[in-house]
Amino acid sequence: MVYSIMDYNNWLNYKGLEYREGILYFANLNTLELAKRFRTPIYVINEQIVRRKYKELKEILNSVYKKNRIYFAVKSNTNISILKILLSEGSNFDCSSTGEIYTCLKSGISPDRIIYTGNMFTNEDFEFAVEKDILINLDNYSQLKRLLKIHKRKGKDTNLISFRFNPEFGSGHHPHTITAGKEIKFGILENQIIKAYSMAKEFGFRKFGIHQHIGSGIIDANDFKKPTEKFLNIIEKIAKDLGIQFEFVDFGGGIGIPYQPNVNPIDLTKYSKILLHSFKETVEKGDIGNPFLLIEPGRYITAEASIILTQINTIKDNGYKLFAGIDAGFNTLIRPTMYGSYHHIIACNKKNKENIVKYDIVGPICESGDVLGKERELPVLEEEEYLAILDTGAYGYTMSSSYNSRPRPAELLINDGIVYKIRNEETFDDLISDQIIPEHLK
Ligand code: LLP
Repeated sequence: MVYSIMDYNNWLNYKGLEYREGILYFANLNTLELAKRFRTPIYVINEQIVRRKYKELKEILNSVYKKNRIYFAVKSNTNISILKILLSEGSNFDCSSTGEIYTCLKSGISPDRIIYTGNMFTNEDFEFAVEKDILINLDNYSQLKRLLKIHKRKGKDTNLISFRFNPEFGSGHHPHTITAGKEIKFGILENQIIKAYSMAKEFGFRKFGIHQHIGSGIIDANDFKKPTEKFLNIIEKIAKDLGIQFEFVDFGGGIGIPYQPNVNPIDLTKYSKILLHSFKETVEKGDIGNPFLLIEPGRYITAEASIILTQINTIKDNGYKLFAGIDAGFNTLIRPTMYGSYHHIIACNKKNKENIVKYDIVGPICESGDVLGKERELPVLEEEEYLAILDTGAYGYTMSSSYNSRPRPAELLINDGIVYKIRNEETFDDLISDQIIPEHLK
């Protein structure tokens, strides 16, 4: 579905949320009952939204260019149940580390559905990927030599290889999530990309892909225009100069979501025009082969599928400011502290409309930066009530920590009204069980 401005209720409904007689429901379940039944803070994921978001993108791709594949960006959500849901929809998987590949393989995902877009690869990374026959997307031509040695040592054929191109036009919701530009560590710039592919040819690779990812959290589709043009030009140049026909062209991820009710969602019709249609036109010229079109969305698929339920423990009026202290902190969700990201926060037992007061919503971590929402307009809140933090399905649990020795929370999955616990909360024992005490301190 491609939508324009929505009213607040529609905005909530799209994310599986609605108020029924003043009580917040998520995936048709009463959030107050969920919060009381399970310990807070807790991540709650709606299976149907994950499926719907995947299908939305797949339909758009299919409508323009049938030979396409979605590679879900595993770094946004590594829960095995989420990976299995996406596998059942037909997804492939983009991994940024050996650990993510390991998780995918353990989830029953076959190696031929995985692309390894790492950076600063170690020999151990290569060993693992080559051993398991995982497609590697290199980040520099210098890595070829080491990779080749490992291929030889393992007696594996050099077949398909890909490089990440850095188009120098990046975009993202925060400087840390912009991944193209001369100052940025990712990918290979225009002046070295031909060298990379000719080296790969010399080294015996016979099939080629190419990749770019310009950044994350992009809400203006126009930001894809310049990098896409440059990408397609460079692909044509490589094809012509080196006589290479591409097996796939990977446009990366980056599609943002509206974290704020007054923000328009990305215009996917425009995205499709800028990226998919121009790609199709380039292919139709006939010079670059008959490649698969790949994209690697993470946030778009999982962010809106999850909320965090959290309990208010302290309402503090310090004479200057009102604080609502909750049991989720930047250990639970780091995006607000790390990027100043906005996550909408709503009360589970009353609509955000009457007796509005401004609160800073703060966590229990011993740092002043532990603020999940600044100056949020909410109905008058009481200690022991519950709040929901929205859009936490991407880069939420995966970036959580046990800082301040606070165990990570559990995760719930809801499907057709049934609640499944898909991850246990950590225990205090989990926090210390990996430590080894030297003899002299025993
Ligand atoms: N492909 C590659 C090579 C990537 O590096 C990323 C994200 C993606 C795909 C998926 O991007 P997405 O569709 O989710 O925007 N922690 C940050 C986001 C960092 C993203 C890193 N790379 C955040 O919480 O906003």
